[in-house]
Amino acid sequence: MIRAVVLAAHHRGWRSYGIQRGFEGLLSFDGVVPLGPVEVRGITHVGGTILGTTNRGNPFRYVRRDEAGAEYECDRSDDLVAAFHASGFDALVSIGGDGSLQIAHDLARKGMPVVCVPKTIDNDVFGTQRTFGFDTAVGTATEALDRLHSTAESHDRVIVVELMGRHAGWIALNSGISGSADVILIPEIPFDIERVCEKIRGREEAGRHFSIVVVAEGAAPRDGAVALVERRGVGTVDRLGGMASQVARAIGERTGKEVRTLVLGHLQRGGSPTTYDRLLALRFGAAAVRAIADGAFGCMVGLNGPTITRIPIEDVVGRTRNVPLDCDTVMTARELGISLGD
Ligand code: F6P
Repeated sequence: MIRAVVLAAHHRGWRSYGIQRGFEGLLSFDGVVPLGPVEVRGITHVGGTILGTTNRGNPFRYVRRDEAGAEYECDRSDDLVAAFHASGFDALVSIGGDGSLQIAHDLARKGMPVVCVPKTIDNDVFGTQRTFGFDTAVGTATEALDRLHSTAESHDRVIVVELMGRHAGWIALNSGISGSADVILIPEIPFDIERVCEKIRGREEAGRHFSIVVVAEGAAPRDGAVALVERRGVGTVDRLGGMASQVARAIGERTGKEVRTLVLGHLQRGGSPTTYDRLLALRFGAAAVRAIADGAFGCMVGLNGPTITRIPIEDVVGRTRNVPLDCDTVMTARELGISLGD
């Protein structure tokens, strides 16, 4: 993405700069670096970001410490806007998911010339059929499920795998179907643990003594809540995690099966991006520069059908692109006999 922005801008005779560690590079240290064709050479196949990032750098909820060392939040957005203009910038390309989009929207309302690019493995941004990073994460998760089949089958076990996806079950659903999971639990469908166990018992009776259960980290039982590792604190959001262990314990107790758990975690966010993600990111980057050239600020580029479109950021923020319960992927799962826990 960064390479596409830099090269497309260079093509127009513009100069590009990268802001390091989110907005920290403008707010708390001198983190503005010139980016030209040389700086972005050879990065298309590399995961992560050459600029670094942070999920605690929201200028509207900036974290500071008082004299006693206690953290508190304050609004430093005016400092950010001032630093942006003092640097002589004409436009900002903001890359990220829901949190970054909200910040970009609030900055746009303060007059910042912003264009957004949707990037998250969760694929949950409204206004685009795909975010980049998703295809790579699904590939990694599918490969993990493929590999887990060996032990599950040879040892007659149930293996419960927790995948990322805070509010949306796209990763769990797509990799679960592709990786031949028997049960897939997603945030959009509150589950009944007894239905999950029925599926496992049914397989047992059919001579299939193992099962693979995929759990999105944001899934929750019908009568319960999502599992949290850490509650939202100063400058941070809730950290989800732990639902796979809860599900595994309940399955063990109710079916008597031997159960194991795997939390795939940040493996899903690393590694070399797939061809699909590379191309999408490059298309998004070039499209963001096209939007700047057209003066179309306050928009997000997105994939819709075969083309890259622009959508006002205000139509995107505060909305999540969840898995529609009647979509053909959900129907496919059900028609393949996969339990969705309902
Ligand atoms: O939003 C993307 C995401 O990968 C979520 O799926 C996950 O809950 C979260 O980020 C993890 O964030 P962190 O790396 O800060 O723990």
